[in-house]
Parts: sequence; C-alpha cells; structure tokens
Amino acid sequence: MEKRDMQDTLGTNPHEMKKFPDAFTFGASTSAYQIEGAVREGGRTPSIWDVYSGDSDHVYRGQSGEVACDHYHRVDEDIEIMKKIGLDSYHFSISWPRIFPRAGEVNKEGVSFYYTFVEKLNAAGIKPVVTLNHWDIPQWFFELGGWLDRAASKHFVEYAETMFRALLPHEGYEGVEEWITHNEPFCITILGYLKGLHAPGHTDLREMVTAAHHLNLSHGLAVRKFRELQGGNEKIGITLNIAPAEAGADTEEHRDYAELANEFVNHWFLKPLFYGTYPERLRSVYEKKIGPFDFFHDGDGDIFTEPIDFFGLNFYQRFFVRPNEQEMFGYEGYSDEMPVTQEEWKAYPQVLLKTFRMVQEKYIYPIYHKGLKRRLPFIITENGVAMENAEQLDCDASKFGTSMTMRDGIDRIGPDGRVNDEARILYLKAHLSQCLAFIKEGGDLTGYYLWSLMDNFEWALGYSKRFGITYVDFETGKRTIKESGYWYRSVIETRALD
Ligand code: FCB
Repeated sequence: MEKRDMQDTLGTNPHEMKKFPDAFTFGASTSAYQIEGAVREGGRTPSIWDVYSGDSDHVYRGQSGEVACDHYHRVDEDIEIMKKIGLDSYHFSISWPRIFPRAGEVNKEGVSFYYTFVEKLNAAGIKPVVTLNHWDIPQWFFELGGWLDRAASKHFVEYAETMFRALLPHEGYEGVEEWITHNEPFCITILGYLKGLHAPGHTDLREMVTAAHHLNLSHGLAVRKFRELQGGNEKIGITLNIAPAEAGADTEEHRDYAELANEFVNHWFLKPLFYGTYPERLRSVYEKKIGPFDFFHDGDGDIFTEPIDFFGLNFYQRFFVRPNEQEMFGYEGYSDEMPVTQEEWKAYPQVLLKTFRMVQEKYIYPIYHKGLKRRLPFIITENGVAMENAEQLDCDASKFGTSMTMRDGIDRIGPDGRVNDEARILYLKAHLSQCLAFIKEGGDLTGYYLWSLMDNFEWALGYSKRFGITYVDFETGKRTIKESGYWYRSVIETRALD
C-alpha cells in the first residue's frame, strides 16, 4: 500500500500554537432539500428530487426529503443550535421550487420564508451565506429541458435575480453578503446524467457534457446579473468538489490514467471557469463518442470566466486509479487506500493541502493574481464525514453511490444521552490542520464550513448516513448536539486547534 503521503504529517512542532487568523470564518452548511421537509407547504411545487426519491431503486429504502429534518417548521430551534455551537456563519441553500412554483411565477410566501430566516440569522449575529442551486431544481424546469436546454440560463438568472433583489443588503435589512451560484456541477452532471446515481438518474454522456456547459453558462450570467444589482462589498462565487485522483501504482500507465481521471473529475469543471475552455485531451475523447460540441457557442467562454470573488471548495476524499478495460475510459477509480478508520485518520495525508496548492497554481495564480490582478480567496464550503449507525448496516452504498464513511466510528445516542463521535472530531481536526498549514504558507483561505450542521437526507443514501455535528432523531425531529459540535464550539471560541 502506498503510504508515502501518510508519513507526510502536519505540524512539525507539536507545541506550536495552532491559531487561525482573527477574521477567519467558522461555519456550517446544509441544503434545502436535505433538511427543510414541508415539500407541499408554503406554495412549493415538486423538485426533481421529490419525483426521483421515494423509490427504493433510486434511494436507500425508498426514502425522501418529504419531512427530512423538518427545518421549515423549526427555524428558531435550529438558530438556537447554531448559537449554542457559536457559529460565525451559516451556509444554506434556497429551494428554487419554493420561489418559482411554476415558470415565470414568483411565490411571495417562499421569498418571505427566506427573507425572515436571513433576518433572524443576522439578529443572532450569524452571517448568512446562500447557495442558489443545490440540486433541487423545480420539476417544471426539468420538464422544459432543464440543464440540457440552453434556455436554462434564462430561468436560472430570473430566479437568481429574484433572490438578489430580495436578500441583498438594503436599507434597514442586513441581508446576505455572500452568494454561491451552483453547488458541485460534478455531482449534478456526472452523478445525475452519466452515472444515473442522482436525480434525474440518466446515463448519457452527451447529456452530461451538455448539462455541464449550461451550468457554466448560467453561472456566468448570474454573476453578471449580480454585478448589476450588488450595492457594495457583496461577494459571489461557485462551489466545486475536488477529489484528487492518484495513480494506484507507480507506473507510467497508472500515472497517465490518473491524469485522465483528474481531467474527468476536476479539471473539466475548473478549466471553463478560469480559461473558458475544456481540457483538450478529454474533450477529444468525448467528441469521438458524442460528436462535436455544437452547444458551445462563440462567446460562451467569456461568460464562463466572468470574474468571481471567492472559490468555494467542497472537499471529502481523494481516490486511486488502475487500468480496467471494461470501463468507459479504460481505467477504474477505487478508494481502498483511503483512510477509512479512526486510526488511519490520525496520519491523514496532506491531500487537502495539495488540493489547495493545485487549484492555486494551475488556476488562481495565473488568472487572478497575474491576469486580473486581484485576489481570489478560497472558502471551504463543505467538509465532513459520515459514520456508521445501527440503521445503516444493511445499506448497500455501492448501489446508491458511495460517500465518505468511517468504518469504525459509531454515531448514535449513548446511554448517557450524549453522542460520542470522537472519530468525526479526528477527521475535522485533520482537515482544519491542513487549512491552517495552507494559511501559514501564505494561502488565501478565509473560511471553513463543515458538513453538516445536522444529520440529514443524504441524497441516494437516504437517512443511512449521518454527517451532522447535531444528531437528528428522524422519528421525532429531536436534535442533540454531538460531542463534535461541542468540540467545534471550543475551536470557534479559541480560534485555535489544541
Ligand atoms: C456533497 C453534497 C452535500 C452532501 C455531502 C455529503 O457532495 O454537496 O449535499 O451530500 O456531499
């Protein structure tokens, strides 16, 4: 087993104070469909996830977000939890079908739900950060063609504009200063349109590349709209999940496949945002399979590269690759060498640190610092881990898509009423240490949002995976802050890792 990286541990001097800059933001993330519930209330119409889930071929045990954490009815209680944990900031997403239940029709009740929520967060001293598209697109939008149709941008920008006008700071309203257009185009397109693991469950390469293109386009056009409407210092960015691919063995063939895998998972989504083009090697592989990129019109690249204010990075894992002729590109990705136990996480390799450096060197420095002569800081918009619980033992993760899971961590309420999730603390600490190391070497990272504030509906894996620092009893909705939540509070208070 390749342990080279494992030995590359952080913090050469164990007594060194592990302090974050004073202005660093500590937050937590969630998303609308995963926590809100109330899918038929407040004028909301179905999203693609309402239609897709509830079927046990698609989602673990046929579960859905119908009730989820019932956050829609428990907003005040959830803000109290955020206050107890001491969050500086809270990152959540807006349910597009609550705002536009039908094409062209704004639902005032939906807008006012978020308007009031933002007001309450600000009153509690918690800075709101909003993602516009965290996957739960309206079913009507999907039926009109969704991301496969060039007109997707028109609908997305109309929705974005409605929310900018409502929630950007204005007279007497502190509002939302930080905005994210899309969450993880990789998952939307590769899991949703190529691998059939997420809604809408398609397996079509041409659809995947087309959807990715229109996501880029709608992102750039939404950023342009934001620039027209912003009043001052408000910021907008996008969130990508980066999972570095590494060669499973030290051979030229393995290294070559790792390079291709990195294009497939990472650069396909990074490159258009910075250079307005797609990685060439993979583009020619795709064009051989699906024909020319006729959806790529002149001028699209300029729209993709509309300057942003921060780069949102979701980080969960790396993976390894080895040749496999049965697979579409001649290789397969596997994760056997990931640290999956508590013991292994203690020596977690510097994967996150390397990822920061890669994005910085290949994309941010050449374009922003040199070209645009302005900074583009990172924000970690998600990072976290799911742990085992009794319920989950029969979950067939490979059928529904895998997720970052620790094999020997237990995530349940103990006899003393507490949730002792020490393994999660280890994971979070390992990643925060890497954030600190990046800052210490001069890296521009301004905030860290863990995933997630609370256990929630984990997409195709249903309720079988718990990612929260707050335990949610899905029968009663009762919340219990886990030990990791109390640990996070002390990190936020001291702004340091012990
Ligand atoms: C990310 C998603 C988020 C959650 C975590 C575990 O890919 O953005 O909604 O599912 O994974």
